[in-house]
Amino acid sequence: MNRREAFRGLIGFAAGSPLFGQTAVQPGGDDLMGPVNVHEFEEVAKRKLNKLAYDFIAGGVEDELTLRANREGYNHFYLVPRVMTDVSKVDTSAEILGVKMSAPILIAPTGGKNLVFPNAESVVAKAALASGTLFCTGSGAEVAADGTDRPKWWTNTTGHANKEAASNYVRRVEDRGALGITVTVDNQYQSNRDRNNRNRFDYGYMATGVPKAGEVRKPRSPALPAMWQPHTPDLTWDYIDWVKAATKLPVILKGILSPEDARIAVDRGVSGIVVSNHGGRQLDGAIATIDALPDVVDAVAGKVPVLMDGGIRRGSDILKALALGAKAVLVGRAPLWGLGAFGQPGVERVLWMLGAELKLAMALAGMKDLASIDRKLVKRL
Ligand SMILES: Cc1cc2nc3c(=O)[nH]c(=O)nc-3n(C[C@H](O)[C@H](O)[C@H](O)COP(=O)(O)O)c2cc1C
Repeated sequence: MNRREAFRGLIGFAAGSPLFGQTAVQPGGDDLMGPVNVHEFEEVAKRKLNKLAYDFIAGGVEDELTLRANREGYNHFYLVPRVMTDVSKVDTSAEILGVKMSAPILIAPTGGKNLVFPNAESVVAKAALASGTLFCTGSGAEVAADGTDRPKWWTNTTGHANKEAASNYVRRVEDRGALGITVTVDNQYQSNRDRNNRNRFDYGYMATGVPKAGEVRKPRSPALPAMWQPHTPDLTWDYIDWVKAATKLPVILKGILSPEDARIAVDRGVSGIVVSNHGGRQLDGAIATIDALPDVVDAVAGKVPVLMDGGIRRGSDILKALALGAKAVLVGRAPLWGLGAFGQPGVERVLWMLGAELKLAMALAGMKDLASIDRKLVKRL
């Protein structure tokens, strides 16, 4: 028996069990059997990527307190599993604002994907389609109008200067088939990212990729002077009114940490909230998202779905977020590590892995579907 046959045998065994029926076929096949988890995908991507690009993706802001807290936050929460429930079938399927998904895992908006892979926005869109995942485009990016291979997608914006620009934007993304508009609200200024400053990174590379050895490029937006660069310093709740007046699509606010803001957002009529600190890339010292989540969920009181992102690398991280009241999670860096390691199949594999880990964690916690999960499943220690 060669390695491929042995692998098929292993998967065949798993496929025979009801639990793994839907998740037996691993995207990418055994050629990708190197990394066995998201952390190891990061290691492969790190080896393949230019240091400037790796640091841009992996890094946070200043001392990276929030970046670390996002990961460490999950370690405060322990699962209190139930037993003797029938988990011979486990259903991870979810529906968020009318979009059905096989698992409550969305691709977060990430700009600068071209630092990782050529034409990356479209490559990740294809991976999302193949994985049945909702894809949120990076700020400023849109899924092509004429593409036949469009996934279900939400668009992402950090705002527009006036009402007219906002409504033109809304019309365009509606025409292109977006199913929701996410507005990122924690991006008032370019932040102070030590790794980019140290590397003499230029934000111009986000569109083009880093220069090749010996290539000289005119500076466009060098990191250090860009730290105070205004993005949306005058963005206020009026913007939400403009967008809502222009569209019937759900408007989802991304970057909420305070329960007060969550309450205002609901009063302003948003359709959903994403608890997020931009992956630790904006305000250092901002609270970890898993710690902010329960208060936001309480403030929203079930009026709109609350999603969250930040630091998710394992299915059990997702289970903790669901237990604390998130309806779904978004993953930012995880698919980028898949992309950097193996291109489109790597993204699919990472998404598959997170879904499979979540399903198994649910089974071992005695939860047969998302509706069975509640706060009693976690204890903060
Ligand atoms: C390289 C990179 C680029 C990002 N670009 C955007 C963006 O354009 N718009 C946005 O709202 N968030 C952006 N984010 C934040 C992500 O949407 C998400 O909140 C964060 O990555 C979640 O944390 P995680 O990477 O630990 O999963 C970016 C994050 C990364 C890592």
